[in-house]
Amino acid sequence: MFVFGSRALFALFTFLTACLGQANQTQYDVIVVGGGPSGLSAASALSRVMRKVILFDSGEYRNNPTRHMHDVIGNDHVVPADFRAEARKQISFYNVTTFVDQKVTNIQPINNSFSATLANGTAFTARKVILGSGLKDDLPNVPGLRDAFGKGIFWCPWCDGFEHRDQPIGVLGNLSDAYDSVRELHPTLNKDIRVYSNGTNNPGQLARIVSKDPNWEAVFKAYNVTTIDKPIQNITRVQDGSVTQTQASREEFDKFRVYFTDETFEERGAFITNYATLQASELPSQLGVGFLGSKINTTARGLRTTVKGVWGIGDANSDNSTNVPHAMSSGKTAAVHCHVELATEELADTSGDSAKRDLMDDGLSHERVEQLTGNEIEDIYNRLRRR
Ligand SMILES: Cc1cc2nc3c(=O)[nH]c(=O)nc-3n(C[C@H](O)[C@H](O)[C@H](O)COP(=O)(O)OP(=O)(O)OC[C@H]3O[C@@H](n4cnc5c(N)ncnc54)[C@H](O)[C@@H]3O)c2cc1C
Ligand SMILES: *[C@@H]1O[C@H](CO)[C@@H](O)[C@H](O)[C@H]1NC(C)=O
Ligand SMILES: *[C@@H]1O[C@H](CO)[C@@H](O)[C@H](O)[C@H]1NC(C)=O
Ligand SMILES: *[C@@H]1O[C@H](CO)[C@@H](O)[C@H](O)[C@H]1NC(C)=O
Ligand SMILES: *[C@@H]1O[C@H](CO)[C@@H](O)[C@H](O)[C@H]1NC(C)=O
Ligand SMILES: *[C@@H]1O[C@H](CO)[C@@H](O)[C@H](O)[C@H]1NC(C)=O
Ligand SMILES: *[C@@H]1O[C@H](CO)[C@@H](O)[C@H](O)[C@H]1NC(C)=O
Ligand SMILES: *[C@@H]1O[C@H](CO)[C@@H](O)[C@H](O)[C@H]1NC(C)=O
Ligand SMILES: *[C@@H]1O[C@H](CO)[C@@H](O)[C@H](O)[C@H]1NC(C)=O
Ligand SMILES: *[C@@H]1O[C@H](CO)[C@@H](O)[C@H](O)[C@H]1NC(C)=O
Ligand SMILES: *[C@@H]1O[C@H](CO)[C@@H](O)[C@H](O)[C@H]1NC(C)=O
Repeated sequence: MFVFGSRALFALFTFLTACLGQANQTQYDVIVVGGGPSGLSAASALSRVMRKVILFDSGEYRNNPTRHMHDVIGNDHVVPADFRAEARKQISFYNVTTFVDQKVTNIQPINNSFSATLANGTAFTARKVILGSGLKDDLPNVPGLRDAFGKGIFWCPWCDGFEHRDQPIGVLGNLSDAYDSVRELHPTLNKDIRVYSNGTNNPGQLARIVSKDPNWEAVFKAYNVTTIDKPIQNITRVQDGSVTQTQASREEFDKFRVYFTDETFEERGAFITNYATLQASELPSQLGVGFLGSKINTTARGLRTTVKGVWGIGDANSDNSTNVPHAMSSGKTAAVHCHVELATEELADTSGDSAKRDLMDDGLSHERVEQLTGNEIEDIYNRLRRR
């Protein structure tokens, strides 16, 4: 456990909210669930407008298994844990975000606000919730696969493709999904590509790949891509690219054998996977937010969920973009909308004009409020602070 925060600020906050005449006091402005790049980004933006944030982090990060994080400008080839530690240091400077390294076991709406409970029974209340609780990779239970995931076996070309460029590569997953991997890898990253479709070369998959590209077979032939449909038994590491690597050119020389159930095997330097993802947390369901497939249904502009006062950011939301820059961008976006909504409610309460509060239910007014995020919202804020 590792908690920052200031009792003095809390007392000041309590005093301020009392002055603002809020009917039911909450301990915090915003509960952020998640200490990955999306939650950290939301906490950063909220801290810089001095919102009181409590951020919960159960320490289960999607990119935990990877050696380095890539394509995050200013932080390319950085160890994810170092990135998160630096982000926490920067956020802590503002003294308004409290980090709680515990799992939230229950979250629910209460008195027009929200309450998050830990396993030890302690509950924390806030007026808004931002869910940056992430996705998890639903990998098949094949010996050797999970151990190597993020270390020579990767799911996105941008993640670790460059480190395995020009190496013999295998594509894992359904035949129709493999087609997309082939197109993303060839020719810039890999030219020696073999697809291991593990018995999925069935009429359904063939129909699906034909619907993607009726000429898929000609493409595979032109790219020298062979499809091996034999059932896979396991994936065995024979060389570790964490050790066998060339730092100057950043090449990581992993080597694996894919064993089939007939006991034969083939060797590849790396694999790219096509497996499903699931919500990492039960909390979005507990709050009753709507889903699109396995993603939290969020509005295109403000990243609002279908539950008022709850936002969905990062991998978990229905942007369907799953990378660190998106996580950071979405965290920032939700924080802006969240702050403006809080400020608008405070303004309505201050002026005793409950009609203004009701305006918040109108999607159009959200857009309008966002357009005014510049000077006007700062004026509102300064007026509130001067009271
Ligand atoms: C192997 C691998 C390599 C990758 N490499 C790259 C890369 O090189 N570049 C790139 O841009 N992207 C990469 N990604 C994608 C990247 O990891 C995700 O896009 C990013 O982590 C999403 O951030 P997030 O904040 O949405 O979720 P996460 O980083 O997964 O964070 C989720 C957070 O929610 C917390 N949480 C969940 N439930 C609870 C709860 N009940 N209580 C408290 N806390 C909770 C978790 O503990 C965690 O802190 C990679 C992914 C994988 C799997
Ligand atoms: C946060 O608190 C620390 C320790 O009290 C103090 O040194 C620092 O100046 C504070 N930061 C801000 C932005 O007030
Ligand atoms: C909810 O509001 C009621 C009435 O104002 C109050 O008694 C109760 O303590 C509040 N509950 C929480 C968890 O804030
Ligand atoms: C305060 O709590 C009461 C009782 O639960 C509830 O009816 C009321 O709507 C709440 N008011 C606000 C502003 O949250
Ligand atoms: C539960 O854990 C939280 C966060 O670490 C802490 O603030 C709280 O005091 C704990 N409650 C109990 C009853 O130990
Ligand atoms: C291969 O298919 C079998 C049967 O559907 C499945 O149990 C296994 O997890 C799959 N293996 C891989 C590596 O996808
Ligand atoms: C995979 O199967 C081969 C052949 O049966 C065996 O030698 C190897 O130890 C297995 N590897 C794993 C990771 O189970
Ligand atoms: C085609 O791929 C195989 C491996 O799958 C490789 O041995 C062969 O050299 C490749 N041929 C060309 C022309 O690239
Ligand atoms: C692979 O295809 C099968 C059969 O069409 C389907 O049930 C399964 O969900 C697919 N897997 C993924 C990861 O898309
Ligand atoms: C994201 O994927 C879901 C299905 O999983 C789909 O319903 C939704 O429209 C997609 N969102 C975007 C922005 O494409
Ligand atoms: C997604 O949420 C929007 C409101 O934000 C709603 O209009 C739409 O019907 C939802 N989509 C589904 C498939 O539930």
